[in-house]
Amino acid sequence: MTDKRPDNRVLIFDTTLRDGEQSPGATMTHDEKLEIAELLDEMGVDIIEAGFPIASDGDFEAVSDIARQAKNAVICGLARAQFKDIDRCWEAVRHAKRPRIHTFIGTSPLHRAIPNLTMDEMAARIHETVSHARNLCDNVQWSPMDATRTEHDYLCRVVEIAIGAGATTINIPDTVGYTAPRESADLIRMLKERVPGADEIVFATHCHNDLGMATANALAAVEAGARQIECTINGLGERAGNTALEEVVMALKVRHDILPYSTGIDTTRIMNISRRVAAVSGFPVQYNKAIVGKNAFAHESGIHQDGMLKNAQTFEIMRPEDIGLSASNLVMGKHSGRAALRDKLRQLGYELADNQLNDVFVRFKALADRKKEVYDDDLVALMTDSTSAEGQMQVKFLRVICGTEAPQSADLILTINGVDHQVTAQGDGPVDATFNAVKKLFPHSARLALYQVHAVTEGTDAQATVSVRLEEGGKIVTGQSSDTDTVVASAKAYVNALNNLVVRREKTKPADELKSVS
Ligand code: KIV
Ligand code: ZN
Repeated sequence: MTDKRPDNRVLIFDTTLRDGEQSPGATMTHDEKLEIAELLDEMGVDIIEAGFPIASDGDFEAVSDIARQAKNAVICGLARAQFKDIDRCWEAVRHAKRPRIHTFIGTSPLHRAIPNLTMDEMAARIHETVSHARNLCDNVQWSPMDATRTEHDYLCRVVEIAIGAGATTINIPDTVGYTAPRESADLIRMLKERVPGADEIVFATHCHNDLGMATANALAAVEAGARQIECTINGLGERAGNTALEEVVMALKVRHDILPYSTGIDTTRIMNISRRVAAVSGFPVQYNKAIVGKNAFAHESGIHQDGMLKNAQTFEIMRPEDIGLSASNLVMGKHSGRAALRDKLRQLGYELADNQLNDVFVRFKALADRKKEVYDDDLVALMTDSTSAEGQMQVKFLRVICGTEAPQSADLILTINGVDHQVTAQGDGPVDATFNAVKKLFPHSARLALYQVHAVTEGTDAQATVSVRLEEGGKIVTGQSSDTDTVVASAKAYVNALNNLVVRREKTKPADELKSVS
């Protein structure tokens, strides 16, 4: 393979739409996937893993449409080590200018036991499936799942077989987030030294974050010779998630002195895509998350504030602008006009058509009337709310009676498929009463798995963002909403989750259990 990339160029492989979307409850709609893929492509991601085409018709359609839409990025789909998976994957990615098939099999003793294959039988399976993929596509990635718990001799053997069968990228997954930086580096070094043909292919690193070491493990692998990092926006992913794209990219940029590797990522787009992924996945970013957390550039203590005023470098190792965060946060108020709102939303990453702007402007004015100051985060919450799934149900009216005298009650009107339905229900507190009212109007057996409230900005007039997670027969869905009234936000979040549940019920296909690959 002739590769003209400089030796220090690291490819960024984003798997937000595949591994990230597997986080319980993080399901995105078709349009949301297309939007995120476009943002990834625009920010300079080299390879986008767009989904797992055999998992469901929805996944297949999403991967096919992302493949058609992509301008620069390689579009990759995941496939198990089975001909039918690989064929289905090819059917979806072949529309891309630059398609890739990614096929994998679990090679550690624990994973070999599942299909009950001997080492030799698995080796043969790897040879035939990688060869099959390579006959369809000249860009093939192969992964020995749970590589970090696979016997070294066997790992070398199967990597050699995959290279011999035509794999052009070999990904080394730390599927359960078990490795540590030195071991991660040693593994790549060993493979490069021992496997014939290793110089001809690209080694990738794919780290999960179960011990909080995913980013460090990925960077250690790069130092040892890996030239592709697999990651997700906000570190989204099953359990503790994956290596976060923003962390590796900014680490390579800020510490270029000791990590002299470069990526093609436009870092000024990081904050925007982080916010969009948080909004569409329903997974808010933790406040103290590196790079993209709300507090990542906030300074509270007097000493820090004093230092910042004199020289920002005293307490900041990168500039907020480097990740696309505007320096000033307090911007809008009730006198701000449409043009200012459009401009501000553009800075925050939202490009709105005129009719969308009109709608958001009305909501912005209503918010500005209720709140003295409208911060960037308030606007993001407003946008999150207005872009959350328009489902068959909407909250039209809510009045609650609460206070020291029980029982609390809620008077609710829900519009269901265009028709208004009204009910009054009681409960143990206003939120319980409201949820009981929703249940009376839309009976269901989903269990409330999580109810979480956080204030978007400071003050008693702050908007509350409420996240609701529901579980029904093993399926998890989330809903989110923001409002200055916590109970209204709760009602809307609950109804959003139910709308998502309805979509999920419709979308569920027999093959859906396949989604549980790390
Ligand atoms: O974590 C993992 O092993 C995976 C593979 C499918 C690459 O996601
Ligand atoms: Zn994974």
